[in-house]
Amino acid sequence: MTGISRRALLRGAGVAGAVVALPAAGMAGYVWTTAHRSNVGKVSFDRPLAIPPLARSVRDAYGRLGVDLRLQTGQTELLPGKQADTWGVNGSYLGPTIRVSRGDTLAPVVRNDLPEATTLHWHGMELPAEFDGGPHQMIRPGAVWEPVWRVDQPAATLWYHPHPHGRTKEHVYRGVAGLLYVDDGAAAGLLPEEYGVDDIPIVVQDKNFTAGGQLDQADIGFGGFSVTGLLGDEILVNGVWGPVLDVRTERVRLRVLNASNARIYDFVLGDGRDFHVVAGDNGLLPAPVPVDQLRLSPGERAELLVELRPGERVRLRSRTPDLGANLLFDRLAGGDDEFDILELRAARELRPAPPLPASLPAPSRLPQPAAGRAQRDFVFGDFHINEKVMDAARIDAVIPLGSAEIWRLRNDVGLPHNFHVHNAAFEVLTIDGRPPGPAWRGRKDTVYVPPNAEVRLLVQFGPYPSPKWPFMFHCHLLAHEDAGMMGQFVLVEPGTDPAEVAPPVTAGDNGHHHD
Ligand code: C2O
Ligand code: CU
Ligand code: CU
Repeated sequence: MTGISRRALLRGAGVAGAVVALPAAGMAGYVWTTAHRSNVGKVSFDRPLAIPPLARSVRDAYGRLGVDLRLQTGQTELLPGKQADTWGVNGSYLGPTIRVSRGDTLAPVVRNDLPEATTLHWHGMELPAEFDGGPHQMIRPGAVWEPVWRVDQPAATLWYHPHPHGRTKEHVYRGVAGLLYVDDGAAAGLLPEEYGVDDIPIVVQDKNFTAGGQLDQADIGFGGFSVTGLLGDEILVNGVWGPVLDVRTERVRLRVLNASNARIYDFVLGDGRDFHVVAGDNGLLPAPVPVDQLRLSPGERAELLVELRPGERVRLRSRTPDLGANLLFDRLAGGDDEFDILELRAARELRPAPPLPASLPAPSRLPQPAAGRAQRDFVFGDFHINEKVMDAARIDAVIPLGSAEIWRLRNDVGLPHNFHVHNAAFEVLTIDGRPPGPAWRGRKDTVYVPPNAEVRLLVQFGPYPSPKWPFMFHCHLLAHEDAGMMGQFVLVEPGTDPAEVAPPVTAGDNGHHHD
């Protein structure tokens, strides 16, 4: 029954604005009811928010910053009093926060002690393609992968996660993900910056659990009636259910990462008060932007400043997100869901925080495309881009280095999608012809693309030519990505004949064994 209904739904998804005719009204009611998820009123917020440890880094004789990252299995108490089998990095669930300064050469040593081959991708980073950790840099179980590159981009909150084609959703869901901060000192003293004290990592994920407290993967593809992948009933922040953050300063900086498979959050504070957005995915904004809500789709990040009064409690919540879909798809994609996420508890006495800065040292605006540079079009279907599904042996775009480009994304269907470009920073120029709000005007690498909408981006790529190893662009709803809603591009020296670009080295196995 489920399979047939799902096919009916997906057929319907191709019809713009259509409401799917379900076999029977009774079924429609069933779908409608089961598609609603909320934890409001069901969570006791009494567990301290865990702060991921900072990764230990060691500078070697060449001045490179070495970081050991061991991908491993383990057991984690995700729900109170219950153990779950989980995956993590240097621990049983999630991974350490890596901090690197602009100009440093980062040399991670990634060891795969998982039972499956995987990869580790540095989301938001500009780097040579062979170190990107995409689907071409597979690491066998027991193998070690040692990428190395010089970090040279503005301060931003990046993250890392596996990217094996077809299995990303499982590997991230089980817990392999972590934050990667690039620091550049430009905002020193302007923003709260004491890690875990007033500068707080907030990794938000939704999960389903079995009665025994194990992670439930039943809906990880398109199980049930899902059209975007797994949507969970429960929320974890940094792996903690029902988390409380003790706040000791008047203002805290929350670095929020949506590390969920498919859920789109619309973050608000419990009493509706304003907060300030100071950074998007890939860098600071030119000034703090006051908002009372902020939508983040999977893979997106934002840095927020939240002000508290002594002794008060405020919840970070996700209210029903406006997904821009029709009634049914909105419901099925989580548009009617709401959650309490995190309780902020201010101490009776709060230490002063840096005053709200009037402006911020944002990176420069991206350069306009060189004259004559053509725009590229990406038309989204249900699970494909330009009518193609991912093929590791096909290059979808050969891009000459040195100029930014305009990319036009058109979501031709009624489903929510988003879009992420590897090794690039972009600015969102327009959404359906209108410029985005000020909170969205900074550098980004991932963007929500509402149903039947057109989003135009100004994209600037990292500086390394890579005729052999491709970079990816894809929908970051992980079930869509794994189903093939992904393509590949290579960066070449200007003047290179696209016909000369070799097909990619497929299913590369970069790891070497050592014990
Ligand atoms: Cu966050 Cu291609 O990934
Ligand atoms: Cu990425
Ligand atoms: Cu999608």
